[in-house]
Amino acid sequence: MKKKNLIVFGTRPEAIKMAPLVKAFDQQPEYETRVCITAQHREMLDQVLDFFEIKPQYDLDLMRPNQNLYTLTATIIESLKPVLEDFKPDFVFVHGDTTTTMAAALAAFYSGAKVCHVEAGLRTFNKRNPFPEEMNRSIAGRLTDFHFAPTITSKENLLKENIPVNDIIVTGNTVIDALLFSVNKLNNNHYTDSEIEQLRETVDFSKKLILITGHRRENHGEGFNSICKALETIAKNNPETQLIYPVHLNPNVQKPVYELLRDITNIKLIDPLSYPAFVWLMEKSYLIITDSGGVQEEAPGLGKPVLVMRNTTERPEAVEAGTVILVGTDTKKIVTETERLLNDNYHYEKMAKTHNPYGDGKASSRIVEFIKTK
Ligand code: UD1
Ligand code: UDP
Repeated sequence: MKKKNLIVFGTRPEAIKMAPLVKAFDQQPEYETRVCITAQHREMLDQVLDFFEIKPQYDLDLMRPNQNLYTLTATIIESLKPVLEDFKPDFVFVHGDTTTTMAAALAAFYSGAKVCHVEAGLRTFNKRNPFPEEMNRSIAGRLTDFHFAPTITSKENLLKENIPVNDIIVTGNTVIDALLFSVNKLNNNHYTDSEIEQLRETVDFSKKLILITGHRRENHGEGFNSICKALETIAKNNPETQLIYPVHLNPNVQKPVYELLRDITNIKLIDPLSYPAFVWLMEKSYLIITDSGGVQEEAPGLGKPVLVMRNTTERPEAVEAGTVILVGTDTKKIVTETERLLNDNYHYEKMAKTHNPYGDGKASSRIVEFIKTK
């Protein structure tokens, strides 16, 4: 009898980071592996599925406009019940810290399957920051049987919570598996991408490119106002730069960003990019300003300095390595640190060294090999 895996995810970053694992298990004939998407995200998730050519067996199709955490959590758990009862997986894989992660881990636990948590053990130890991700990841951790920690630091966090050492394995982060896959595809002469072609035609690459992303819930409202004020100041003070911002589809992000920044000549607001186009644009950028978890992990591998618009991070490795600086959402601090990178070459070069503390691109195969021992 084949062992059965159910791989569950719902948002863009989970899809990017789970895609390499789906591909790795698809090559293991002794396992039957199925993918279930909650579709907590829709368009932004479908972009990733298209690129990695993943066709989920189950699509719960749960995204609703401006959805709230209560309903989303409840419907994920309810909607997973028939899937778990139909497929009866031995192992359920969840990823990271979203509502899908936490709710799917709980549903999997109820079903009796072994819960496998990819990107386990990241912590700020501040339960409200990032919100609600710190608690999502911690709760998933309590429900988990096998913890795939990306770094030694994340393993140590789990040990502090009395997780048995034999249930933890340090794998590196699958984000690097995905990144290398994409860079490889982008470097293939036969690869064509209409989004990249469009960027080539519409972006002035003779200017220093500042790439921006932002979406965190704890920054909604006041945080986004001061972020936008900072971006406006940077653009106006530094006409030799081009700011480009693929705006997350969350209406709490779209509204302030478009209202406050749409009329500034050297700020370009665009729809979320497909993953390869975003990787391509990261490579072309001078620096990146973001509150994203995944971008913090990818950019150091590409040798790009990153300013992180958060007060805490559960990803201290790149900060310690010197390629990431936390700037929070304070307008003055974002402007000062950006202009320092624009004007101080020595400081820029120090931050821009290619340093990748998050893995070697083999995280997925380590996860598969570990599961084979169970
Ligand atoms: C979610 C995760 C967050 C993760 C982020 C990655 C939770 C609570 N939040 O935040 O941890 O870092 O995804 O991007 O799990 N929307 C669309 N189309 C899409 C995606 C979103 O229209 O493809 C809009 C919808 O109106 C949706 C809203 O964005 O209701 C919010 O989506 P949601 O997944 O609840 O929150 P995010 O801010 O995306
Ligand atoms: N990303 C993308 N298109 C974009 C912006 C980001 O494909 O327009 C990718 C990025 O490379 C990273 C991931 O999305 O892998 C990060 O997702 P997000 O910032 O939404 O979530 P987080 O990582 O903060 O949970």
